Amino acid sequence: MIEQRIDELIKLIDKANHEYYILDKPTITDQEYDRYMQELTELEEKHPELKREDSPTTRVGSEVISEFKKVTHEIPMLSLGNVFNEDEIMSFDERIKKTVSNPKYVAELKIDGLSVSLLYKKGKLVRAATRGDGVTGEDITHNARTIKSIPLTINKQIDIEVRGEIYMSKASFEKLNANGENFANPRNAAAGSVRQLDSKVAASRNLDCFIYHLPNPEEYNIYTHEDALKFMKELGFVTNPNNKKIDNIKELVSYINYWTENRSTLPYEIDGIVIKVNDLNDQKRLGFTARSPKWATAYKFPAEEVLTKITNIVFTVGRTGQVTPSADLEPVRVMGSVISRATLHNEDYVKSKDIRVGDIVAIKKAGDVIPEVVKVIKERRTGDEKPFEMVKDCPMCHEPLARKEEEAAYYCTNNHCPAKKIEKLIHYTSRHAMNIEGFGDRIIEDFYNLGYLKDYDDFYKLDTHKEDLMRLEGFGSKSISNLLKQIENSKSNSLERLLFGISIRHVGEKTADILARNFQNIDNLMNASFEEINDIKDIGPIIAKSVTEYFNDEENKELIKKLKEHKVNMKYLKETTTNQTEFTDKTFVLTGTLERFTRDEAKEKIELLGGITTSSVSKKTDVVIAGKEAGSKRKKAGELGITIWDEETFINNLSKY
Ligand code: IVH
Repeated sequence: MIEQRIDELIKLIDKANHEYYILDKPTITDQEYDRYMQELTELEEKHPELKREDSPTTRVGSEVISEFKKVTHEIPMLSLGNVFNEDEIMSFDERIKKTVSNPKYVAELKIDGLSVSLLYKKGKLVRAATRGDGVTGEDITHNARTIKSIPLTINKQIDIEVRGEIYMSKASFEKLNANGENFANPRNAAAGSVRQLDSKVAASRNLDCFIYHLPNPEEYNIYTHEDALKFMKELGFVTNPNNKKIDNIKELVSYINYWTENRSTLPYEIDGIVIKVNDLNDQKRLGFTARSPKWATAYKFPAEEVLTKITNIVFTVGRTGQVTPSADLEPVRVMGSVISRATLHNEDYVKSKDIRVGDIVAIKKAGDVIPEVVKVIKERRTGDEKPFEMVKDCPMCHEPLARKEEEAAYYCTNNHCPAKKIEKLIHYTSRHAMNIEGFGDRIIEDFYNLGYLKDYDDFYKLDTHKEDLMRLEGFGSKSISNLLKQIENSKSNSLERLLFGISIRHVGEKTADILARNFQNIDNLMNASFEEINDIKDIGPIIAKSVTEYFNDEENKELIKKLKEHKVNMKYLKETTTNQTEFTDKTFVLTGTLERFTRDEAKEKIELLGGITTSSVSKKTDVVIAGKEAGSKRKKAGELGITIWDEETFINNLSKY
């Protein structure tokens, strides 16, 4: 009898929830709903043995767990590749068309929340898990049960996994913060709520969930993504009402434009548009890369400012000794990457904007520029924020800092400051300097602290410590041999790499090349006067002064001598051909992926043969070298009637010389 009543009540409440949360068409009043819930709660309290796992009373959050269990995703939960503009959307479409002749798509809103996998056995929710690293996530079933748009029971008694996004509506987010919380954005609030051991917290946060992915469609005889969405909706899941079948790229572009304009009218935040190939057979043929499906991509809205919270302000010492304040942030996604640090530039910048620890700030990232804090949202202050104080001493060596007259920056003036040294050593090995692979920042720091690396010449003495190094954690004989081989190889680099690598102030990669080209070897450069250097085209007095000062310093002279003793090459080897070649004085643009060269290698080869490389296609471009997956640049070259070489033509032309 009682069991039957419990069953009836659950059915009534589930139906009411479905009508309210999913169909948006309630048929019973709130009072009736509350009465059913009340009756069910009382019956369950009296007869705990009859309480069912899928009872709607579990949604109020009664379960508290002691730790998050790990969950393995049998089918990895992948992320999506990104595109940022119309050209890149076109390239995505072109890429698809290489495999699929007439692709149709489904466009969806990219909900800004966190992805979740929901597992049902015989129609009942048995497990909810976060994405984690894609393979191993965390079990958050207790919290997922509190989310009303996640059905505890679905309309068929089947085993099924579905995936979607847990998010917090803008309204719930505002309410939460008005009630004393201080989350930076709805996404962080949703993530924070789901990661609670006590499910009462999640229950009180009013989370929501959209379902957008069916990992095992064949099992249910489903052959298009559109049908998968329909099927999941019929089962009782909430799918997004704005999902749209797209027949051609024009339609896609107008869908994107529409939502770029109207995203603020949505009750939840979106950060882009997801584009998926509709036919699941086509999806299969397209396959995956290691991280993301090739049959889908995410168009990300343009560099908007994202809100997050400053948790700390730290000071770092760069290669030149400049001490820069940076903000540690609550991690937030900006244009496809997760940001947890942003530059604050210098004391004046921080003071003029009155940036404080604890502030909610807008951060911005444009292209590959380091993200910066743009402004403080002063209305969000609680009074607990800590005003900024610039440090007076170097955070590494504790020597007092000095402020240069005409600059806003503070510098550590101690030549032996370990932070400066470590940064310089890291720079020496970097790709565009001596290109010694296998050293991460941490290894250099550790080797410095262990005394193996104090200055550049110590790289060439590391072989004498081989035995010691092999005893360090994380090193085997193979990795040490590789490292030593790399170091040995670096000895034959052309001079400009060394000049860039030794961190002479104001000498960047390009200047290093000009100096090396003009003086041909280090002795000529060391003996050159200020005037001789200043006379070179593209070199000004600031560089000339810095270079002469550098080589007049006894310690630096000694260092160069030691490097010479280790047989580090000191000559310019990139001799350009004086002969007329297919490349002479022509302007080249490289685009797409080359299989036989990296971009840098190809660039070097072109320059060696007298050509010039630039990055954008214009009427002045002579040749576009188009590798695999070349998109908009190749198209533009075609329109302008510019010569296009594929990789093979490029190689053929190179091999003539
Ligand atoms: S599809 C293999 N569809 O965006 C399928 N993802 O940047 C992969 N996201 O990890 C996901 N809305 O958390 C898909 N309509 C949508 C989405 C969506 C939001 C999230 C999801 C994913 C991330 C990738």
